[in-house]
Amino acid sequence: MELKNIVKKQIINLPVYETGKPIEYVAREFGLDPDGILKMASNENPLGPSPKAVEAVSKHLNGLNYYPDGGSYDLRMKLSQKWGLKPSQFAIGNGSNELLEFVAQCFVGEGDETVFGAQSFIVYKLATIFCGGKCVSVPMPNLKYDLDMLRDAVTEKTKIVFMTNPNNPTGCVVKQDEVVNFVKSLPENVVFCYDEAYTEFQDDEVDLRPLISEGRNVICLRTFSKIYGLAGLRCGYSYSSEELAGYINRIREPFNVNTLAQVGALAALDDAEFVNESRRINNLGRKQFEKAFGELGLEYFSEGGNFVMVKVEDASGKFVQMQKRGVIVRPNVGYGLPDWLRITIGKPEQNERCIEELKKLL
Ligand SMILES: Cc1ncc(COP(=O)(O)O)c(C=O)c1O
Repeated sequence: MELKNIVKKQIINLPVYETGKPIEYVAREFGLDPDGILKMASNENPLGPSPKAVEAVSKHLNGLNYYPDGGSYDLRMKLSQKWGLKPSQFAIGNGSNELLEFVAQCFVGEGDETVFGAQSFIVYKLATIFCGGKCVSVPMPNLKYDLDMLRDAVTEKTKIVFMTNPNNPTGCVVKQDEVVNFVKSLPENVVFCYDEAYTEFQDDEVDLRPLISEGRNVICLRTFSKIYGLAGLRCGYSYSSEELAGYINRIREPFNVNTLAQVGALAALDDAEFVNESRRINNLGRKQFEKAFGELGLEYFSEGGNFVMVKVEDASGKFVQMQKRGVIVRPNVGYGLPDWLRITIGKPEQNERCIEELKKLL
């Protein structure tokens, strides 16, 4: 019996997640010195990791012979204080990516549907397909959510509506009232999975805790990978009703979040200085890119998150040419946006280098 005849059929058709190209790959492929390569492809924090997290992690290296705390007690207690919710309303994941998969695993089976924006984080699609569900991907005119269209796509088969705000990859932002009204318009038996990976970069954060207290089926996801600069540690969390958190905690592997991720995340929550500086650098960089694109006469889209989108001819070719010059950006062919590059906002000198290299290719 050939394996392909017995493997679950949805796995055969599962698209592969293409990550931002790592520095070492580009160095090998183009014979470059890795130290001179600038990665602006995965919305990582250009300031490095939170210094408080690094200090905490380094103090715990000698305890690695022990298993981690499977219940992430300290982290959940701290999150409970930060958000004014019960510790039992949180679930901690090996990155928020893992939690997205858990949400799908909890609610999606054969024949069920999930609804999300066509140019929205690809993991919603992957998690749905993996669970045997059907993806209903809704057009995003002008790279923005159309909430009426999103609502109209919900049927009696819909189990989850995924939304990320600011959206990745487009960066569009939806306001508090719009999100709240949208959630209130959903049928009671639909779960609203609200991905807040980039929310800390915004001045006004949408707050869905009142909807959770009202008993709505809302789960919010956050990550330590972006503003806290801890993408390599893999830690994210969700908050929701106790019941929903309970289902997620039931299906996760007992030690899904390693010790260093837990202590690093815990310390990062106290690093307000780093968070504020990350936000400041990001706001500066956004203006820098907007000015440069404007001067170059390039169409761009820049609203929220720690990245900008720019429209260029032959974006895939430019993606390769930029790598040869030591700058890694992100093409968006997989999102049906073949003319757009997504660029993670860096430090001013990094942004300048990226702009200069792009300019040479225009
Ligand atoms: C919108 C969105 N959600 C979730 C994630 C996953 O983040 P992590 O698994 O690192 O927490 C990402 C990563 O880029 C993202 O862009």
